[in-house]
Amino acid sequence: MAEPDTREASLAQHLFRVEGRGAVVTGAGSGLGLATARVLARNGARVTLADVDEAGLQRAAADLAEEGCAVRTAVADVADRGAVDALMADAAAWDSGLHIAFANAGISAGPGFVAPEGRLDAVDDERWQRVLDVNLTGVLHTVRAAAHHMVTGYGRIVVISSLAGIRADPLVGYAYTATKAGVVALVRNAALELAPRGILVNAIAPGAFVTNIGKANPGRGRVVEEFARAAALNRLGDPAELEGLALFLASPASSYVTGAVLPIDGGATTGRNPV
Ligand SMILES: NC(=O)c1ccc[n+]([C@@H]2O[C@H](COP(=O)([O-])OP(=O)(O)OC[C@H]3O[C@@H](n4cnc5c(N)ncnc54)[C@H](O)[C@@H]3O)[C@@H](O)[C@H]2O)c1
Repeated sequence: MAEPDTREASLAQHLFRVEGRGAVVTGAGSGLGLATARVLARNGARVTLADVDEAGLQRAAADLAEEGCAVRTAVADVADRGAVDALMADAAAWDSGLHIAFANAGISAGPGFVAPEGRLDAVDDERWQRVLDVNLTGVLHTVRAAAHHMVTGYGRIVVISSLAGIRADPLVGYAYTATKAGVVALVRNAALELAPRGILVNAIAPGAFVTNIGKANPGRGRVVEEFARAAALNRLGDPAELEGLALFLASPASSYVTGAVLPIDGGATTGRNPV
């Protein structure tokens, strides 16, 4: 028969416990970042919500604070190294320090090559650069600063990649696929470097979720339909459906998981949907 303390450790409230942990989520004003901040905060973590959208941040934080959650906000552009360094330094100075960081902020690169404006010839240099600055360099800024300040012996860094980073996707723009693949490589190397310090680094590769990303893209309606059809579940994901995986990767339950890329895609990687 198992020892009582072993039984205790197997209980969900211990396995998935993030209470008292300090967390930062970038891009927390909307979509997947907001869902992540919510699940961490509702389970007792102290969460700093960071975003460039001040109004979105205030709305998100006010709702969580009303529920009694410990939340703070920070307006920070992840493409700005100084802003991200300051964000993580502040989070580390709050109570018992920084334990969990989600590099979630990201932007669309426009439609993929199924649309004329998404073809190779049409790639706009300025937009390419901005997507790299946010989706790739922004992740470097976030991972580097978070790791620097995680000195408590418990570290969880999670990067939001995309299915488009692990396989070709004609529905999304070149800069997006390139950056989402780039962060996977960054995650694997950082996982190796940071393992001796007890910091686990993983990536989530979401399929298509209903959020604000890409809303302004031309032909959005058709793209959404195609994404839904590509999933075995034949629909897009709701951001709340990311909460379980986010909590798993932030919690003790993931103690033997690092350098991994975990898809959450309604079965979009299983193959062609017959319907
Ligand atoms: N929604 C999907 O289908 C999907 C699929 C795969 C991956 N992702 C990834 O998930 C992450 C979250 O996207 P989402 O779908 O929730 O989109 P979203 O647009 O709803 O939310 C993204 C948030 O990031 C913020 N943001 C944008 N640029 C920023 C910057 N430079 N610094 C700080 N904050 C910034 C935005 O203001 C916004 O609040 C992104 O990295 C995205 O690429 C989304």
